[in-house]
Amino acid sequence: MLIKSHSNGIDSPFASEITPREIFEARRTFIKQMAVGSIAGTALFEMANRAAFAQSPNAQKLAAKPNPAYVVMDKQTPYTDATTYNNFYEFGTDKSDPAQYAGSLKPRPWTIAIEGEVKKPMTLDLDALLKLAPLEERIYRLRCVEGWSMVIPWVGYSLSALLKKVEPTGNAKYVEFVSLADKKQMPGVNSPVLEWPYVEGLRIDEANHPLAMLALGMYGEVLPNQNGAPVRIVLPWKYGFKSAKSIVKIRFTKEQPRTAWNVSAPQEYGFYSNVNPNVDHPRWSQATERRIGEDGLFTRKRKTLMFNGYPEVAPLYAGMDLKKFY
Ligand code: MTE
Repeated sequence: MLIKSHSNGIDSPFASEITPREIFEARRTFIKQMAVGSIAGTALFEMANRAAFAQSPNAQKLAAKPNPAYVVMDKQTPYTDATTYNNFYEFGTDKSDPAQYAGSLKPRPWTIAIEGEVKKPMTLDLDALLKLAPLEERIYRLRCVEGWSMVIPWVGYSLSALLKKVEPTGNAKYVEFVSLADKKQMPGVNSPVLEWPYVEGLRIDEANHPLAMLALGMYGEVLPNQNGAPVRIVLPWKYGFKSAKSIVKIRFTKEQPRTAWNVSAPQEYGFYSNVNPNVDHPRWSQATERRIGEDGLFTRKRKTLMFNGYPEVAPLYAGMDLKKFY
């Protein structure tokens, strides 16, 4: 399914993902049904299920203390789904492209430049980022604007720890996150599907909310390349595209940043992009979602929750018309 959408006339990959996923799930349901009734089949299915939750054998472990304040009780998304069904347009627009092509990304050495309206501009390397605050494991829901969701154990800490270190000036009203855009490492950057580099942004009070996370790992390991190695943002109350991957620059600004999806299709993707079941995307409803990893062909969709089930962020938007500021 391809729908013309963006102002640049390119078909929206955001909509095109639906059919392949359903075929995949139908196949999985079929295999499951085939397995039922035969002991060997059931054992095989259980083995496959265990493999789905297993981590990668070669990845570097990243020890983190579970933070009980940030745990959703929903079942975690299998590691294989979270690492093979991705959006990372720098590696292509198909869900399978990042896992297939992100091997060319070199996550070390890596630095993030922090600049703009801060008293202490600085460049931090990965070791400095890993030591900046105690690493925590937080299990967050991630809701993509396309209508699917996952539950992922991230490793990292509140972005506010970084803000505290660089001391934003009184002029810092917004924070801009800039992803790497290197044609040599990222084949998708040769395509005009988005304006590169991928840029996202937050208001400074959103960036300071304890839920906003700077993530360096997931499932107890360093981030896989396809999930935004070596460092990304995770904003569980916003649609997934706000969570910029493979960040190389964080800039504090007076003005609201121009963000990649807002530039590409302003009527469809606003600056705030808070998960909101009451405000539909112009081309589809946002009232329900499919949970990746448990959504067979006949499984009912889940109701999408306001702010993705994180009501504690509501005061950030007190008095704002969320239909206008979508
Ligand atoms: N960051 C960059 N640099 N490029 C991207 O294409 N895709 C976004 C977001 N961050 C994207 C990005 C979208 S649409 C989603 S849903 C999430 O990453 C997906 O994160 P995940 O692959 O870890 O699930």
